[in-house]
Amino acid sequence: MRNLFSRFPGWRELMVCAVSFAAPTLLVAQTTAPGERISINSDWRFQMGDPAGLATPLDYDVRPKVIITEDGKAADAEPTEAEKVAASKQQVLKPWILPSGNAFIKDSARHHRRPAGHPGSDVSYVQASFDDKSWRNVTLPHDWAITGPFIAEGPYGGMGRLPSWGIGWYRKKLEIAASDRDRSIFLDIDGAMSYATVWLNGKLVGGWPYGYNSFRLDLTPHVVFGGENQLAVRLDNPPHSARWYPGGGLYRNVWLTKTHRVHVSHWGTQVTTPQVSKLSASIDVAVSVDNDSQDEASVDVATDIYAIDVSGKRVGGVVARIKPQSVRIAAGGTARALGSTTLANPRLWGPPPTQTPHRYVAVTTVSRGGKAIDRYETRFGIRSVRLDPNTGVYVNDERIPLNGVNNHHDLGALGAAFNVRAAERQLEMLQEMGANALRMSHNPPAPELLELTDRMGILVMDEVFDAWERKKTPLDFHLIFPDWHEQDLRSMLRRDRNNPSVIMWSVGNEVGEQYTGEDGANIARKLVNIVREEDPTRLATTAMNWAKPDMPLPGAVDVISLNYQGAGIRSLPGQFPAFRERFPDKVILSSESASALSSRGEYQFPVSGSISGPVRPGSGGDPKTRQVSAYELHAADFGSSADRAFAAQDQHPYVAGEFVWTGWDYLGEPTPYYSSRSSYSGIIDLAGFKKDRFYLYQARWRPDLPLAHLLPHWTWPGREGEVTPVHLITSGDEAELFVNGKSQGRKKRAAYEYRLRWDYVTYEPGEIRAVSYKNGEEWASTSVRTADAPAKLELAADRSRIQADGMDLSFVTVRVLDKNGLPAPTAKNPIRFTVEGPGELVATDNGDPTSFVPFQSSEREAFNGLALAIVRGKPNQAGKITLRAESAGLEGASVVLSTARGRK
Ligand code: GAL
Repeated sequence: MRNLFSRFPGWRELMVCAVSFAAPTLLVAQTTAPGERISINSDWRFQMGDPAGLATPLDYDVRPKVIITEDGKAADAEPTEAEKVAASKQQVLKPWILPSGNAFIKDSARHHRRPAGHPGSDVSYVQASFDDKSWRNVTLPHDWAITGPFIAEGPYGGMGRLPSWGIGWYRKKLEIAASDRDRSIFLDIDGAMSYATVWLNGKLVGGWPYGYNSFRLDLTPHVVFGGENQLAVRLDNPPHSARWYPGGGLYRNVWLTKTHRVHVSHWGTQVTTPQVSKLSASIDVAVSVDNDSQDEASVDVATDIYAIDVSGKRVGGVVARIKPQSVRIAAGGTARALGSTTLANPRLWGPPPTQTPHRYVAVTTVSRGGKAIDRYETRFGIRSVRLDPNTGVYVNDERIPLNGVNNHHDLGALGAAFNVRAAERQLEMLQEMGANALRMSHNPPAPELLELTDRMGILVMDEVFDAWERKKTPLDFHLIFPDWHEQDLRSMLRRDRNNPSVIMWSVGNEVGEQYTGEDGANIARKLVNIVREEDPTRLATTAMNWAKPDMPLPGAVDVISLNYQGAGIRSLPGQFPAFRERFPDKVILSSESASALSSRGEYQFPVSGSISGPVRPGSGGDPKTRQVSAYELHAADFGSSADRAFAAQDQHPYVAGEFVWTGWDYLGEPTPYYSSRSSYSGIIDLAGFKKDRFYLYQARWRPDLPLAHLLPHWTWPGREGEVTPVHLITSGDEAELFVNGKSQGRKKRAAYEYRLRWDYVTYEPGEIRAVSYKNGEEWASTSVRTADAPAKLELAADRSRIQADGMDLSFVTVRVLDKNGLPAPTAKNPIRFTVEGPGELVATDNGDPTSFVPFQSSEREAFNGLALAIVRGKPNQAGKITLRAESAGLEGASVVLSTARGRK
C-alpha cells in the first residue's frame, strides 16, 4: 500500500489528531472497519497549464475580460458593480459543477440537475493512459506559486507578486480494493485554490469554485473496485481575484473517505450545550445519517461522550451516553436522530489564562442489527458564550475583553500550503502577546487551524466572504456569489459549528452592499437567516467600514462589527457613540482596528510629534527604500496607530474589544508600497520577528507582566549630537530614562496614553536605560546598548527536537551579533545556510517586505540583524540534523536538531 493513511474507529473529524501530533501510521486497510479516512497527500503529479490544442475549453464559466487593473487601490475603496458578461456560446462546465453543492441548498426544488455526459473526458490529462512521468512529483498541501519567482514589475503587489494565477493540474492513482465494492467512496478536499474540477477514470465527478471552502465529492459511481483509479484535478485560479495572496493549488489536506452506504452525513453532527454551569451541562446531539443504498434502511444511532486531552486522546471512560435511537432512512435519503444527555461536573472550555480549554469527544455509532456500520467522532467543548451590549463578551460568565487580531491564511515563506506547526507557532506568539481572539479574515480557515484554536483556547470570529455581489477586484468571489453563497456559507457553518473556539460568524467584510441600501441589507438578512438555520447558538455579523447607523445594513446583523470606524476614518470622527445610540441592544466591537504600518527595525527621522498619522514621504515612510518607520506612529490612511485605537476603545468601555489588522504580516497588500511583496501591517513580521508594536499590545493585554521595552535601537554612527527620540513601552505607569547614566526625566502616563516619550534626547553612543514604576513601586527595567560592527552569527531553534514526518518544522532564528555578543541592529550581512543529516531547508526569510529573494533560497541577507531558516525532518528518518549559517567576514554558527519518529 503506497498511501499513508490513518485508520481508527471514528477517524472522520479526527484528522487533526493525525496532522497535529503524529505522522499518520502505515496500517493495513481492513474493510471490516466502520469506515476509513485515508490521507492521500503523497505521490501527486503536478503540471501547470492545459494540454496543447484543447478542443473545448474546460472553463467553469465565461469570465469578464480583464485587460489592466489598478494596483494599490485603497483597501477601503468602494466596491463596484459586477461587469456584464456578454452572452456566449462557449460550453462551460458550470452545469456539471453546480450539483456538487446540492447538499447545501436547503430548498430541494432548487437543487441542480446534472446534464448528461462527461465534458473533458477526451482530454489526455484526465485519462489513465496519459503518461505523467514528466510532471513534478508533489506532496500536499502544495502551493504552486510560493516558489515564485517574484514579479517585480506590474500591478501584482496586491496579490503578493507571486504567480498564483493560472491553470494547474494534479493527478494521482488510487488503488481501491474489490472488498470496498459495497461502500461509499468520497474525495474530501479541505481547500483547493480555486475552481476545482475533478475527474475519476475520465469521468467528470464535479467540483467546487470557492478556493477557501472544504468540500466532498462522491466518487462511488465512477470507481473501479479492485483496481487502479486515475484521479485528475484541474484548478483555474483567475488573475486579479484577490486583494491579498491567495496561493494556488491543492493547498490543504486531501482525503479519501470510505464508509458504509449508510453513514453519518458529511459534517453531519451538531453538538450543542444549551445549559452550562459548573455543576452540570446538558448536551444535545443531532446526527444526520445518509442512506446511499438502493433500499430503505433502519438503523440505531447512539452517542458516547468522553473527555479528551490536548492531543485529542480520550481520557477515562464514557462520561455521558445518548441511548440508541432508531431511524428509518429512505433509499437515497437522509434522516436525523436527536438525542440529549446531561453531564455532571463538566470540565468547561474557556480561554487562558483564567480558564482552560477542556474538550470532549462525542462518538456516534450507527448500527444495524447490533453491528456497528459507521462511527463518527465530533470534538466539542462545553462552554457558555454571552454577548452583553453594555459590557461585551462573557465566556462561562467571565467577561473576556476581545484582545484579538486578524490573520490571513498564508504562512509567510511557506505560502498558502497549510502546515500545522507553522500555524501553531503563529498562535503561540500571539498568545505570548496576550491575544485571546482571532478573526479569520476573510474566509474559512484550514480545519486544523480551528483544531488549534480549540486546543489553545483562542476565541474565533469565523468569516466566510470578502465580497458579495459587488466586486473589489475584477475576478473575485462576486463572480460566483449568486450561485454559490448558500452552499459556501452552509458548508462553513456545518464544518465549523462544533468547534468551541468559534464564538460568532461573520458573513462578510466591507462588502459593497454597505452602499446599496435595502438591497444590500436584504442580502445580509438572507445570509444571517442561513446562519440561524444552521446554528441557532451563535450570532452573526458583517464587518462594516462605511455603513453608518442610519443605513439599512447594520440593522440586518446581530453584532455591530466596525472596521476602523470606531477610532474614526480620516477626518470622520469615531463612530462608536453613534452606533451605540442607534443600537443599544447590540454588541459593538472593532473587527478591524489600527492597520498600523511599520518595517521591523527601520527607524526614520524626523519622528512625528503626533501619535497617529498616515505614512507620507519623510513622515513615517521612505518611498526609495519602501520602508515604513518602526516608531509605530503611522497607519494606513484610513487607520490609526495602536495607541489611537486603544484610546478609542478605552473612551468607550462598552466596546467588546478589537481584532487588530493584523497579527502577522502577510503576503500581498503591501500598503503603502505596492511594489513590495508583503504587508507592513503585522504586529509580527512575515518571518515571525516581533516589531516594537508587539510590546504595545503585550503591555495592554498582559498588564500584570512586568514589561519595559525601549525603542529605537541605540547604534547610530553619524547621528552623534542629533535629536533621537526615545520611546518606552511599559505595563507600568511611570518611568525614568537615562542616557549613559544621565537622567532624561521621569514621566507619568496620562489618561489614554500608552507609551512614554522623550522626544528631545540627543544621541550619544553608549547605553539608554529605563526604569519603570507601577503605583510608585519599581516594576520593570530595560536597557539598550550601542553595538560594534557585526562579528558573528548566533542560531536559536524554536524547537530542537521535531518529528521525522516530513511536516514538522523547526524555525531557526539567526542573529547577527557584534564581538561582545550585542545584537547588531542594522546588520544586512548575507548568510548562507547548509543542512546535513536527515532534514532539509524548506525556506528562509528575514521579514523585509521589499525582498524578492525566493523563499526557497539557501542564501538570505539579514534584515536589521535577523534572518530565519525553516528546517523540516525527512519522513521516517530519525537522526541529527545540523543547520550551519555562514557569512563572509563573520564567525559562523550551527545548531543541531534531532528528529524522531512518532510522538515528540
Ligand atoms: C481593510 C480590509 C482588510 C485590509 C485592510 C488593510 O479595509 O477589510 O481586508 O484590506 O483594510 O489595511
